[in-house]
Amino acid sequence: MSAPVAFLHTFVQSLSTLALYPPGHASRERSLEGLHLSLHDLLDSDPHPLFSFLGNEVVYGRRPLHELRDWEWGSRLSDVGIQRLEFDAKTAITTVELEAFLEEMLDRLNMRPADSSEARQTRETGIKYGAIGVGDETEEQAQVVTATIAFTLGEEAETIRWMHDELEGGQSLPLSEAEAVVRSLAMAMHGGSVTMVPLLRLREFDEYTTTHSLNVSVMTMALAEWVGLGAEDVRQFGMAGLMHDLGKVKIPKDLLNKPGRFDEAERKIMNSHPVEGARIILATEHHLDLAAVVAYEHHILINGGGYPTLKYPRDCHYASKLVHICDVYDALRTKRPYRDSWPAPKVLAYIEEKAGTEFDGKIAHEFTTMIRKWEPQIAVMNEDEELPAPVATPQSPAPVGPAPAQPESG
Ligand SMILES: [Fe+2]
Ligand SMILES: [Fe+2]
Repeated sequence: MSAPVAFLHTFVQSLSTLALYPPGHASRERSLEGLHLSLHDLLDSDPHPLFSFLGNEVVYGRRPLHELRDWEWGSRLSDVGIQRLEFDAKTAITTVELEAFLEEMLDRLNMRPADSSEARQTRETGIKYGAIGVGDETEEQAQVVTATIAFTLGEEAETIRWMHDELEGGQSLPLSEAEAVVRSLAMAMHGGSVTMVPLLRLREFDEYTTTHSLNVSVMTMALAEWVGLGAEDVRQFGMAGLMHDLGKVKIPKDLLNKPGRFDEAERKIMNSHPVEGARIILATEHHLDLAAVVAYEHHILINGGGYPTLKYPRDCHYASKLVHICDVYDALRTKRPYRDSWPAPKVLAYIEEKAGTEFDGKIAHEFTTMIRKWEPQIAVMNEDEELPAPVATPQSPAPVGPAPAQPESG
């Protein structure tokens, strides 16, 4: 068993022991000493261990711990707002501090009645833990959680390019790589004390599908979290966002990057990408039904317009409606060969205007509220740039111009 896995096992054993025995009990002392030793073993191999609990997955540094997949405690901790746990070898951690930390965990996990008479001493120690910043954070969480991982999106973009090349070459969908990209994006979003929304800036027009896939995945996850979905759903939605335009691998490059309007025949080819995408995804025999549905539905408007045309009109999946809005947002924010990029306020005004006809009204409202609130946390970056720390800036509404009737979207 690796040191991080051994440590987590000892950690939850200690939690259970502390939940059973009162302070001063011999079993409790033994358990704390065991945890202290296990932590030292861990710190010997890694002076700054960092665990992330993301739904049913535990990630150590940037590496998922496969042994702990579906480990019940990963979701229990993440459900009570412990999505990150880190230790710092520079600060000696005593058993007393470990005990105070475990007590705080027990309170959060509701494993015993909360006792507000004892002050928790974890803040000044080498133990840091907390939630990823969704919604309102308590002051304590904001203080204890620190960003430690420098993120770029270079590897993720490289993986997406490779994935598209594979598909163009007739290979099947490399699912584990796609999952790794989504996991990595989720970690980039939650590397610090508040949620960051890292978006990739388009440098070359022919790179659009790469940057767009990553951006839609990130924004879909941000929106899914914002509306309160759990970690597992958030990642499924992130996968669907990443793959929504896969069908474009079947479209000739010169058509994809055409610097002008499409004629009717070209439009027909372009509009085949939802069906093609769903086909590619369903051909993999993995359980990617949601991603296939989203690929199929992401250009269908709430009023039944868009494409493909449904023979028997029905409501689209919730995930499709989320992806649809994020898709349009990223498409309009990006400079294309046939039009300039739109400023964010103009795109938000467009989404508000089309709420209830093109976009689901409630989701559109959630999206525009989220973007306005998280504006300081949206980081538009180049592939080789590091994700910056969020900066709180006062919002200054920019002038909003009239929206054209129907812009091209991705
Ligand atoms: Fe798209
Ligand atoms: Fe699309």
